[in-house]
Amino acid sequence: MFPESMRVRKIIGNWKMYKTIAEAKAFVASLAFVAINNPIHIGLAVPFTMIASAAEAARGTLIAIGAQNMSDEAEGPYTGEVSCQMIKDAGASFVIIGHSERRRLFQETDFIINRKVIRAVNSNMQTVLCIGETLEEYNQGVTKEVLKKQIMENLQAVTVEQMKLITLAYEPVWAIGTGQSATAEIAEHTHQFCRELIANKWGKNIADHLVIQYGGSVKPENAGGLLDQIDIDGFLVGGASLSLDSFTKIIQSQQIKVS
Ligand code: PGA
Repeated sequence: MFPESMRVRKIIGNWKMYKTIAEAKAFVASLAFVAINNPIHIGLAVPFTMIASAAEAARGTLIAIGAQNMSDEAEGPYTGEVSCQMIKDAGASFVIIGHSERRRLFQETDFIINRKVIRAVNSNMQTVLCIGETLEEYNQGVTKEVLKKQIMENLQAVTVEQMKLITLAYEPVWAIGTGQSATAEIAEHTHQFCRELIANKWGKNIADHLVIQYGGSVKPENAGGLLDQIDIDGFLVGGASLSLDSFTKIIQSQQIKVS
C-alpha cells in the first residue's frame, strides 16, 4: 500500500492489455528484489484477471498492485463491468482513472471520470487520475485550459481529506506510445501549473503533498532528466514497464539520483 499524504516518489507500470497470469507472477517476484531498500513507491497496474495473482505474489514486498479502470457504479446489472469493491477484494490498492485511452477509445467523459473518482475515494481507494492534452490541443496552445477543465471537472466534489488519496498523472496524449516524450522543461512547467491550480482550490498543504507523475514515452534514457525536475514526482510508464529490464532501469535512475 502507498502511504497517504507523503510526497514520496512513485513509479507505476501500466501494463494495459498485455501479459498472462504466469508472466505477472514471475515479473512481480523479480521486481520485489528491485523494490527492496528503494526510496520510492513502486506499483503495477495490471489487467483485472491478474490482480489477485499479482497481489498474492506481491504480498510482503514493497510493490503495490492496482487496476487500470473500474466502474462508476457500485454494483448491479452492468454486464462486463468491474466495481471498486471487486478490485479491492481481488487485492488492488490503487486504481488508474481517466487514462487517455479510456477517454478516447471508450468515450469516457469528464463527467463519468468524476463519478469514478468519487466512487473510488468514497471507498478509500488510492486513485491515479490521468490528465493530458491531445496533439491538436498542444499545437493550438490550449494545454492549460484543457488541463484546468479536466482537473476541475474530474475532481469536482473531492474533499480536502479525500485529496490525500489522489495522485495526478500528467500524460500528454501526443507523448503516449509515440516514443516522443515531453521535454523535462515542458513537463515541469505543466506540473507547476497543475500544482498551483490544486493549491488554489484545495490549499497549499494538499498541493505540496500531491504526487504528480509524468507519463508518455518514459524510458531509461529520459527518466533521470525528468526526475531532476522539482515538480515531477515519478512516472506512469506504459511500454517500458512491460520489460523487467527497462522498468528496473527507470526505477534505478531514481536510486542513482538519490545517492
Ligand atoms: P507509454 O504509455 O509509456 O507507452 O508512452 C504511458 C501510458 O499510457 O500510461
